Amino acid sequence: MATSSRAAPDIDALRCQVVPSARPVAGLAEDARRGLLHRPRSLPSKYFYDERGSRLFDAICRVPEYYPTRTEGVLLARHAAAIIAQARPEHILELGSGASRKTRHLLAACEGGRRTPTYWPFDVCEEMLLAAGAELSGRYDWLTINPLLGDYCGGLRHLPAPDGRRLFVFLGGTIGNFERAEAVALLRELHAIMAPGDRLLLGADRVKDPAVLRAAYNDAQGVTAEFNRNLLHVLNRRLDADFVVEAFRHEAVYREDRERIEMYLVSARPQTVRLRALGECIGLAEGERILTEISCKFTPDSLESLLGAARMRVDAHYAPPDGYFSLVLARPD
Ligand code: SAH
Ligand code: TRP
Repeated sequence: MATSSRAAPDIDALRCQVVPSARPVAGLAEDARRGLLHRPRSLPSKYFYDERGSRLFDAICRVPEYYPTRTEGVLLARHAAAIIAQARPEHILELGSGASRKTRHLLAACEGGRRTPTYWPFDVCEEMLLAAGAELSGRYDWLTINPLLGDYCGGLRHLPAPDGRRLFVFLGGTIGNFERAEAVALLRELHAIMAPGDRLLLGADRVKDPAVLRAAYNDAQGVTAEFNRNLLHVLNRRLDADFVVEAFRHEAVYREDRERIEMYLVSARPQTVRLRALGECIGLAEGERILTEISCKFTPDSLESLLGAARMRVDAHYAPPDGYFSLVLARPD
């Protein structure tokens, strides 16, 4: 195994390996055409995560109302040793790894073990992969890090398949950002590349008091609002559009019937927006909404049923006493 004695984080030492899509994936222009030109309007959430968006998400994780990060962090701190003892990973591959902050608990639990795993963070945001990688290599000089740059919506078949047991990690309740059918499809793709000895560690947010959920997506400092509106900056830059960012309000509602948060950008006044790269204009009425994110909440049953639909079986289910969040360790059936 490669060892290094780097004293300080060395960003130049890290290179991202690009993971090719297993099937054609729409680019922003196509997604915008499909999502914005007709009602109901929507956009895929992966476009939130440019460099600024990733930093804003990181800030969301620290606002007092956003309990999922803290709660999942506590669960990981408490159960990392048991998880590592059960999964005995030679590789840890994390989907949507972001800042990889909570993952440190897993890495710390591997420290001093007989064989330390290689860490493969996989994300669409290259800046985040490099910053997180530099931070981790400064902290764990024994750790080999192979950052993977790509889009998990393009399929998982071209992920590197090194020899040895793998622990797949998917945290932050990101599985809830998919419609159920899409979530099942993603977990099935994961199942298809898992060997019998591989494991999945999945974090999912739970159904709870709607007031707690609403507050988590409507923080008082307005960080979530800024994150949501950042999508318009991304569109302005990448599609040569002229959204007036201040003319949109952030709205996050909890739909009790669907057990999910829905996040919208709401046009504060009637306006026309030009999307020059598409050669199109869209007219938005006052109060008209663009759906930018869903965040599904689970019960222990609905979570196990989701995993079951992807032929995964739960080995361990960790939750805090208040039942705010679930961390499950699953295996392919
Ligand atoms: N796992 C971290 C970050 C969650 S935010 C946590 O729990 O705090 C979601 C992360 O997934 C972001 O880092 C974002 O860049 C990444 N992401 C979003 N869509 C993606 C996609 N389609 N493919 C790969 N990564 C994606
Ligand atoms: N996976 C996170 C969640 O569903 C993503 C998230 C948190 C998010 N806050 C957000 C996405 C605000 C868009 C806007 O909780």
